[in-house]
Formats: sequence, structure tokens, C-alpha cells
Amino acid sequence: MAPQPPSPARFRAIGPLRGTVRVPGDKSISHRALMLSALCVGESRIDGLLEGEDVLATAAAMRAMGADILRGEDGVWCVHGVGVGGLLQPRTALDMGNSGTSTRLLMGLVASHSITATFIGDASLSRRPMGRVIDPLKLMGADISASPGGRLPLMLRGLCPAVPIEYRLPVASAQVKSAVLLAGLNAPGMTSVIEPVPTRDHSERMLAGFGAALTVTTGADGARIIALQGEAELKPQAITVPGDPSSAAFPAVAALLVPGSEVTIENVGVNATRAGLYTVLREMGGDISFANERVVGGEPVADLVVRASALRGIEVPPEIAPSMIDEFPILFVAAALAEGRTVTRGLEELRVKESDRLALMANGLRRCGARVDETEDGLIVEGTGGAPLPASSVEIAAELDHRIAMSFAVAGLASTGSIRIDDIGPVATSFPGFVAMMRTLGAEVA
Ligand code: S3P
Repeated sequence: MAPQPPSPARFRAIGPLRGTVRVPGDKSISHRALMLSALCVGESRIDGLLEGEDVLATAAAMRAMGADILRGEDGVWCVHGVGVGGLLQPRTALDMGNSGTSTRLLMGLVASHSITATFIGDASLSRRPMGRVIDPLKLMGADISASPGGRLPLMLRGLCPAVPIEYRLPVASAQVKSAVLLAGLNAPGMTSVIEPVPTRDHSERMLAGFGAALTVTTGADGARIIALQGEAELKPQAITVPGDPSSAAFPAVAALLVPGSEVTIENVGVNATRAGLYTVLREMGGDISFANERVVGGEPVADLVVRASALRGIEVPPEIAPSMIDEFPILFVAAALAEGRTVTRGLEELRVKESDRLALMANGLRRCGARVDETEDGLIVEGTGGAPLPASSVEIAAELDHRIAMSFAVAGLASTGSIRIDDIGPVATSFPGFVAMMRTLGAEVA
């Protein structure tokens, strides 16, 4: 993907935020919907797909490996797949852009096909560790040559038939779990993943929804055991993708922090393995309610009603981290305006996301006048007690990280002046329309 010239933007609030909005489709579910549809013979239809750059990278890769993927004029995506085991040799390198999820899940898919694929990505993705998927996929028989440190660019030669394995996750990662399960789809016998700490379960739900034989049980030590029968036959589906709770986090926290605000965010996925931020914000005193709770396409969904609130700092239990792993940057912004101290730990994974999110948030928030201590595995934030951040004309370098850019955009709304983001372009990876939506709610974006 050709790099775009930087597009700076300055954010400030000119009054309370008000209105009813929707956020784009869930990124994790969108990737999985395209991949599994591409493994069915026949037509699947996907409504509400996130049309962000990360998901488009997955669509392009699945096309390069033989699937027929089209967006209808009604916005519904139509996928004609190749069947499990039917992926074709891509003719050129698969460009994953900024997307760790595309890379790790597709590596799993390729690993059990007799094809070879080269994975490339942008500067941020090329710094991220792939050893965590390389290790189990090698056990399944894939031959992988990666750049030093187990990074991109890398070349993966799959093996068919692959070796089914039982794999205990050494890191709490839904991407690693999903990579192994997707490889297992085309391996003979049972592939099992043992997950000591539960992570998002969209892969399990959707695999079952497409007709794979999959069981989830609890081991003697309390770990989740996901067992998948290989050489599966998947049946085409009609999928409705809910709004992304990770994207909804930005308008939700903005509404909590800007005095007098009341915002409704409709149609948000509230799967318990993703909704940790909302639990934590409520414990901090946030006025957030889930209205109209329902189940859509096998996933729990609600409308979030959020009102400005006085927040209190808390100790965030490390066990909740996997269910809000992408939401810590915006939680730190909320903590910076809370009364008292917020303590987080067990967050070493944040150092290997699209950026080192602990370092960027600590440095950036300090520059905005917040009091923050950075530890090896978390941040300790001493809040202002509700007073806006004393930031007048701070500029933040988002380092190709969409969630850092959006977090500081929200911080701009909660500051005495404004905050300028050096490049708002990366938000298109997960949240196209972010700036327009914030304007609709009443934010000033210059
Ligand atoms: C994702 C899993 C998480 C998350 C990422 C999306 C997924 O990553 O941070 O944005 O769709 O499986 P890890 O599995 O590395 O925790």
C-alpha cells in the first residue's frame, strides 16, 4: 500500500457533545467474515463489513488466493469462496499494510495449504513480532523464513496435509489462537488450542456458525480448550457485522469527559470478551448504559447511552486486560481527568501493538500536562479531578498508530486549548469517518 502524505488535524471542544451516531463494523469480525466466506463453496453475504484499510488488506489477499469478493451497491459484500483447502498460490507478495490481524490470521490459513506466500507490511507492522505465530505454525509443518527478530517481510511455505497440534498459548492472544485454528481447518484430525486467559472469541463463534465441528471446554486448571475437527466443510452464510466496541470507545470517552455531553452510539458489539472498557469506566463512575440489548449474527449487541460524568481513578485488575486490550490508550485519557490515581499493570503486550502504546501515551499525556508514571507493564495516572488538561497547542506524533491518533483527538476535546495530531490518516485502518463523526457530535476539527 503506497504511503499517503501526512494529514494533520487539530481537535478541540466548543461545547457539549450531543447526538446519536453509529460506528463502523467490527474489525476483528470483519476480517474473520471475509476469511471464512472465502473458504466456502458458494456465495456468502456480509452486511456491515468494516471498509477500513486493514480489512481491505484481508480482502485483497483472499482475492489474490482465489476468492471472488465484490461490494454491492447496497454496501453488502458478496464472497464466492474456494472451499477449505482450495486456496491458490498468490502471484505477488501479500501486502498487509498496517494490519497485524490480517498477517497473523492469514499466515495460519496459508500454513496448511501447499502454497507459498510472502507477507509484507508498513513500517509499523514490520517492527511487530511474528514469532508467536511462527512457532505453532512450524509445529504444524509450515516452512517459514522471516526477517531478523521474526518480523516481516517473511515467506511462508505451507504443508498439506498439515500436522494437527495441541497448542497452549504462551501469550494471551486471539490472533495466535485464531492462526492455529484456521490452520487446523485444513489439517486432518483435531487441532486444539488451550487458552489459560480468555481472549476474544469471535473465531470460535464464527467457525461454529459456518458449520465447523468445534467444542469449547474448561480444563482442570480452568483454561479454555478449543478443539476443532479438521478437513472441515464450511457452508456459506449471511453475516451481519455489529459496530466495533473498540471504535465506539472514542466517542464514548469523549462524551464522558466533555461537560454536559449526552451521546448515543447505536448497534455496538458488547461481547464480554471485548467489553472490558465499559465495565472499567462504569466502575470509575461513568454513566454508561446499554439499551436495546439483542443478539445479531451470534454476537451480543446494544445501543450505548453515555452522559458526561465525574470519574474516579481505580486499580484496573490485570485479568480484565485481554477484554479491553485495544482500549487502554483511550482509558489513559479518561484516567487523566479522573479524581485520584488510576493504576494499570500486566500490559506488556501494549508495547508490541501498532506502536509502543505505553511509551507513546505516557509521553504524549505528559506533554498535555497530565501526571503519568510509566512502569514496565503499565501506567500510573494521577487525574486532574475533572479539570481539562492544560494543553494549549500540543502536537502529537501518532507514529502510524490509529488508536494513538484517536485517543489524543479525544484528549484535545478535554483540554483547555486544542491538540494537533501530526497525521490523522492512519485512523482509516479501523475507523473511516472518525473526523466526520466527531464533528457531527459537536467537536471542532481544523
Ligand atoms: C485481534 C486481537 C488482538 C487485538 C487486535 C485484534 C483479533 O490482538 O489487539 O487489534 O482480531 O484477533 P492480540 O491477539 O495480539 O492480543
